[in-house]
Parts: sequence; C-alpha cells; structure tokens
Amino acid sequence: MAVLIYKSLPSTNTEVKKPGYRHGDVVIAREQTAGRGQRGNRWSSNPGENLTFSLVWEPTFLEAKRQFLLSEAVALALTDTLEHFQIRSRIKWTNDIYVGNKKICGILIEHDLGTDGKLSRTVVGIGLNINQKEFEDWVPNPTSMALIAGHTFDLNEVFQRLYDDLEARYSQLQTAPEEIEAAYDKLIYRKGTLAPYRLPNGKRFEGVILGVKSSGELLVESEGMVVPYLFKEIEFII
Ligand code: BTN
Repeated sequence: MAVLIYKSLPSTNTEVKKPGYRHGDVVIAREQTAGRGQRGNRWSSNPGENLTFSLVWEPTFLEAKRQFLLSEAVALALTDTLEHFQIRSRIKWTNDIYVGNKKICGILIEHDLGTDGKLSRTVVGIGLNINQKEFEDWVPNPTSMALIAGHTFDLNEVFQRLYDDLEARYSQLQTAPEEIEAAYDKLIYRKGTLAPYRLPNGKRFEGVILGVKSSGELLVESEGMVVPYLFKEIEFII
C-alpha cells in the first residue's frame, strides 16, 4: 500500500485510474482543480482545509451485481470515523454522508468490470469536509466537522482513522456481507419518516423510505405502494 500526497491535481479519482495503482493505494490532493462529484457535478473544496482523496480496491471476489456492498462499506467507514470524532451522521442514499440535514461528505465510486462477471477494480473517491467553514453559494447544504464540533481537526489524524475504518469495513464485507447490509440499513437518512421527493419528470410526492435492496435500489412507500428506485430516478427534496 502506498500513500501519495500531491499539492495539486485535477482530480484524484482520475489520477488513480491510471495503470500502476494497486489495491490499497491512496492518492491525496491538497487541492483539486477539477474535482468531480456524482451526476456530473463539480466537487468544491478549499485547498488544504479538507480531505480529498481516492483509494484503489481490487474486489475481484465480488460479483458485479453485488457492487452496492462496496458503496455501503465505504459509507459505513465514514460514519465510523465521524462517530470516533463524536459526530453522529447518517447515510443519504446512495452514499452521501449527512449530519442533520447537511452534507458533510461526498463519495464517488467508479468500478471496472472483469471478464468473469466480477469486479476488477474500484476507485473510491472521498471528499470529507473537515476545517472549511464557508462554502460557495451553489454547494447544496454543506457542513464540515469544524462547523459541527466548533474546533478544527488535524487532517492526518482524520485520514489515518478513516483509512483504518475503510480497511475494517472492507474485511467485514468479505467475511460477513450481511452485517454490512444490516449496519447500512440502520443508518439510512430519513428511513421511516414521511418526507418529500421529486421524480425526474418534476412531480413531487411524499413518501417513506423502507430500506434498500441488495441491488442498491431505494424502496419508498407512497400512497400504499412500495416502489424501488434506481439512482437518478428519485431526488430528495431537502
Ligand atoms: C458527490 O457527492 O457528488 C461526490 C463527491 C466526491 C468528491 C471526491 S474528492 C476526491 C475524489 N476526486 C474527485 O474528483 N472526486 C472525489
């Protein structure tokens, strides 16, 4: 395992996709000039104030159709680390980390498939807001560890802890995947409460999250019907 620290990179996810990076390798950037988020969004982070890094995993044992387990394991590791620093967080499906109604961490996971229906390589990109206190206007509902705790944190200490938590959840995924699913289920943001959502056609509705399927679809009950939603098929109204 190698940890490389760069002053500036376009995107750590793009960097670790280059050949040569192997299981357990990490690239950290003090600053990203083209940080990428989900749904084609940008990821904005003040230089040196937060953790922006990517980790390579080679989960060659895992069927591609079970890839959501990796999202769950990563999200759980983040909640473990935050808990260690006395911050109680929840997982907003699929894998944003929320404290109350604010986002403290974004995760961008990108998989390469092997030829055998299994995964060959997974890039786990993490943007954890740590010491930043002011955010650009367009960033939706941001918060940071410092805003919540009222003091700053040592980035290295948080990284060390998070790396260990990621390793621990990865091992658990290999030995007891059902425990990963059960732990994720307990930490789902808004689970069991009536809340507003929007469909891609703009229609708003109120529903209750019941859980997620092993395939990763979100189960939402509305007007007596339970509907499974894929990523991009439902938007949270916060
Ligand atoms: C999201 O919530 O939209 C996901 C954000 C992921 C951001 C991280 S920062 C490190 C890594 N490199 C990137 O370009 N993106 C991820």
